Amino acid sequence: MKSRIVRILRSAANVVSGQDLSAELGISRVSVWKHVRRLREMGYDIQAGPTGYRMVGSPEALYPWELAHWGSHARYFATLGSTMDEAKEIARSGCPHLTVVVADRQEKGRGRLRRVWLSSPGGLYFTIVLRPDIATELTPRFNFLASLVLAKTLRGRFGIDARVKWPNDILVGGRKLAGMLAEMEAEADRVTFLNIGFGINVNNDPHPEEQRATSLKKLLKRPVSRAELLTTFLDDFSKRLDAGPLEGVIDEWKTVAMTIGRPVRIATTRETTEGIAEDVDPSGALLVRRADGSLKRVISGDCFQ
Ligand code: BTN
Repeated sequence: MKSRIVRILRSAANVVSGQDLSAELGISRVSVWKHVRRLREMGYDIQAGPTGYRMVGSPEALYPWELAHWGSHARYFATLGSTMDEAKEIARSGCPHLTVVVADRQEKGRGRLRRVWLSSPGGLYFTIVLRPDIATELTPRFNFLASLVLAKTLRGRFGIDARVKWPNDILVGGRKLAGMLAEMEAEADRVTFLNIGFGINVNNDPHPEEQRATSLKKLLKRPVSRAELLTTFLDDFSKRLDAGPLEGVIDEWKTVAMTIGRPVRIATTRETTEGIAEDVDPSGALLVRRADGSLKRVISGDCFQ
């Protein structure tokens, strides 16, 4: 009902009377007023006068009806522990491919390597549930696709030099703008679901602890619509998924990567590998040429460069 009220008021050139609204929506005028009051609490600036209602301003919000055709795929939460946990739960109960869980705030946001992902208001935090009919060893292709498409969306939409640091951090000018986290469940080596979570610093100020981080607001010196960024990215991502097999995705990923050909240090809890990042193999592992000439295959870790 709220989405319909927003749509009607937004498209109206003038004031819309309570009577017209109640007739169009098939609810009483008292109900109309209750919905309007709730929409105001949600940040919509709706003027109410003797002749009716007029929409004067909208919040920078991620409510499903702000997400165009993606609204019907979206599960929106003002606050969540983590969109990863919610996505896992709904994926286990059978939600469809390309369901998106989005939250304005996360209280237990998770990063790679068991880190905390501080999720202050103004950032974009979401998880996409994917159900590719593939064997588990092919899932890295989807992770590479996610960072490739996000880098391209950010470059195309904002003209910024977004680059991917292996495995899938998005950096601009050496500072982290976005991170991704993938989780999957499988049965007999076939993927049941693969959830990819995205944390993008949009209008939030990255936490002072995250010294090497930046945000779109900082880079562009203006706030950005998270709803528009999310829908543009989802359009780009789903188009690329529909475009066909992902065999060439790692090669394509290399065109926006900042790691290949560079000196790197990869740290895991057990060891550190230093050398020149030579390539990424089909499983997504980084191939690092060490000073002694040997080639080390690194599956995961923190990449410093
Ligand atoms: C990283 O760079 O360490 C990955 C960060 C991933 C953060 C996102 S925010 C949305 C989703 N929910 C989470 O708890 N984590 C991911």
